[in-house]
Amino acid sequence: MKQVLTIRDVKQLSKNSDFNVIGIASRLTRRLDRNDNPFWDVSITDAGGDLDGKVWSGTIWWNQQGGERFPIDPDNCGFKIEGMTLGVIGRVGDFKDQLQYTFTELFILDQEKYPPENYTKRSPVKPEILEEHFKNLIAGISYGPLKNFMDAVFFKHGLWEKYHIWPAAVTLHHAYTSGLLEHSVSVALGALGMAKHYGDFKIPVNLDLITAGALLHDIGKIKAYSNSPAPKVLAPGNIIEHVTLGYGMFQKFAELENLEQDLNFAISHIILSHHGRREYGSPVLPETPEAMIVSAADDIDFKLSYWKMQFESLSPDVEITEFLPLIERRFWRGIPQK
Ligand SMILES: [Fe+2]
Ligand SMILES: [Fe+2]
Repeated sequence: MKQVLTIRDVKQLSKNSDFNVIGIASRLTRRLDRNDNPFWDVSITDAGGDLDGKVWSGTIWWNQQGGERFPIDPDNCGFKIEGMTLGVIGRVGDFKDQLQYTFTELFILDQEKYPPENYTKRSPVKPEILEEHFKNLIAGISYGPLKNFMDAVFFKHGLWEKYHIWPAAVTLHHAYTSGLLEHSVSVALGALGMAKHYGDFKIPVNLDLITAGALLHDIGKIKAYSNSPAPKVLAPGNIIEHVTLGYGMFQKFAELENLEQDLNFAISHIILSHHGRREYGSPVLPETPEAMIVSAADDIDFKLSYWKMQFESLSPDVEITEFLPLIERRFWRGIPQK
């Protein structure tokens, strides 16, 4: 049998290469071709990335749980394949000048020998480091009632339970376990750096509001996405969206904890305006120094992690990415520090 590659290795292969890979079936969409034959768009995920493949009708899906191997009908096998660990044999082809991956044989592996948790993507920053940053950020809030409020939100009302493992997105940035915590802590630290600088340059910025607003700005993602086996948009995420969901969650906490009205307004404003533009989903634009800074820190955190994600999936000799419609530009790898 050919060597099992990681998804990152598969992405380095050129046209007409064959590969074997193991990962979680993170998305499985059944479609019909022109002749009404079913085919599937299947994404598999491992710790280093996602691979989207085509599974044409007639492809054999093997179930080899429990040792024996027998073919199954993915439409009618009596269990949900999404979320399970799959072995895949595939081939690199192309379609409209882009590489396309075809999965030519699929194996539902023994889930005890190949547990899906071993293949989930996680934040590259260690969980204990993220947690330490998070706790230090809350401890650094100088106004007692706001610090108590933040403690209550995360630890009395239990937001922490999901917040510390949730993804921050489905595909674009921090789309892995603990991505929301990593992104929120990173936005808070970046925003505090900016806020302190402007404080030194005589623009008054409320650092407590920066910390609270940055840590809370994306809490709506907890209701917008699910976490298992790979991030997925839920109906509320689609029809209400995380900015509005987050505002609703925050209002509930503010009411339960009797948060002072002016703090409620100021933090609500940060949550609602953090996308910076109405066409990006914010009903209001940032109007305070704190909201402008958190929104700027959020934007740069997203762009940098998107930049990193792009180059991680390209071979080292590629200097410039394809055009990326989402951010209306290509990325350049740049030159290293001399
Ligand atoms: Fe957001
Ligand atoms: Fe964000």
